[in-house]
Amino acid sequence: MRIISVVGARPNFMKIAPFIKAIEKHNQISDNIIEHILVHTGQHYDDRMSRAFFEQLEIPDADINLGVGSGSHAEQVGHTMIEFEKVLKDKKPDWVVVVGDVNAILACSVTAKKEHILCCHIEAGLRSGDISMPEEVNRLVADRLSDLLLTPDQISSENLRKEGVPEAKIKFTGNIMIDTLEKNRIKAGKLNINEIIKLNSVNGLDSEFLSSSNPGFALMTLHRPSNVDTREVLEPIVRFIIDEVCSEIPLIWTIHPRTRKMLENFGLLNEVMEHKNLVVLEPLGYLEMLKLNMNSRVILTDSGGLQEECTILGTPCLTLRWNTERPVTLMEHGGASVLVGNSIKLIREEYHKAMNKKRVPVRPKLWDGHTAERCLKEIIDYK
Ligand code: UD1
Repeated sequence: MRIISVVGARPNFMKIAPFIKAIEKHNQISDNIIEHILVHTGQHYDDRMSRAFFEQLEIPDADINLGVGSGSHAEQVGHTMIEFEKVLKDKKPDWVVVVGDVNAILACSVTAKKEHILCCHIEAGLRSGDISMPEEVNRLVADRLSDLLLTPDQISSENLRKEGVPEAKIKFTGNIMIDTLEKNRIKAGKLNINEIIKLNSVNGLDSEFLSSSNPGFALMTLHRPSNVDTREVLEPIVRFIIDEVCSEIPLIWTIHPRTRKMLENFGLLNEVMEHKNLVVLEPLGYLEMLKLNMNSRVILTDSGGLQEECTILGTPCLTLRWNTERPVTLMEHGGASVLVGNSIKLIREEYHKAMNKKRVPVRPKLWDGHTAERCLKEIIDYK
């Protein structure tokens, strides 16, 4: 059997790593050898957004890089389809496997089906209900076209049933990203936070930074267009963290390239960089981010993956969105996260509650570190 799996952007890398390991393990014990070809669309190309993850997670170099790079959504998707079609015609795989919700999954699922190749979506069935999110469009298209839909939780399986997906296509296999978390949590736990700051600081705060502060630290990541692309939304968030968070506790902000660019455009970057209680870091490697997550008192984020990691680690998480495709991570479902949108009133209220909360780790069903093996088994057993 020949499988092509596709990655494009940062959140894909921690999802593909365990799948590749599962294929290697299978090939060691089975005569039915699987030939695996890894394709990187090239959407994320910086060392810190891509290369660092391949190294830390021991992902072999991509066999093929489509070199798509930045651009509008249509440019990214169109360019990926043109290049991926050539790969499919040349390699003629039995399966195309796509993971997560980035632009690559839309482009590659469409291309695969037009070439009459079976398509499997790992992390199928997530729905935010918000069609203005580019990722929601990607999920809807990939799930509509895929032959095998591997879901991370039962809410996602139910979403697919409601959309009329035949039962035989839906398989609940668990959350593949948690395989990576479980594999790396001991290694990450050994890292030193001051070293992480020293090696990744963009605003020159040195390694002594945290040793003098007993109250711990807060952590923030922001990258969604809805939070960072307009001044009306981004500026009040920056004001809140500077005036109300950093006056109490150090805040570590790992900064996405999109967000940095926007802070600069809105004339906010200098104030952020110069604040003495705000540690601005480059985008971090997987292990460094996991270490910070394990130790921070509260996380403010609009990332989907972090909501899931916070659930397993029990880190109180303020999700700066009005909806989530991952309801299983919300407190009302036993998780660690609460939706606060971009309302400063809500963010403030929940921030103070979170600061008084203890860590309560939760493990949803089948988030057990063995999802990749189940995913591969479903592909092998597909009839
Ligand atoms: C993408 C994904 C999103 C995911 C996020 C994680 C889609 C639709 N979105 O959003 O689901 O949560 O990645 O990071 O696929 N840039 C760099 N260096 C890079 C990559 C990007 O500087 O290596 C810059 C680009 O020039 C662009 C901006 O960052 O201006 C945004 O990149 P883009 O790939 O368009 O989307 P993300 O916001 O990263």
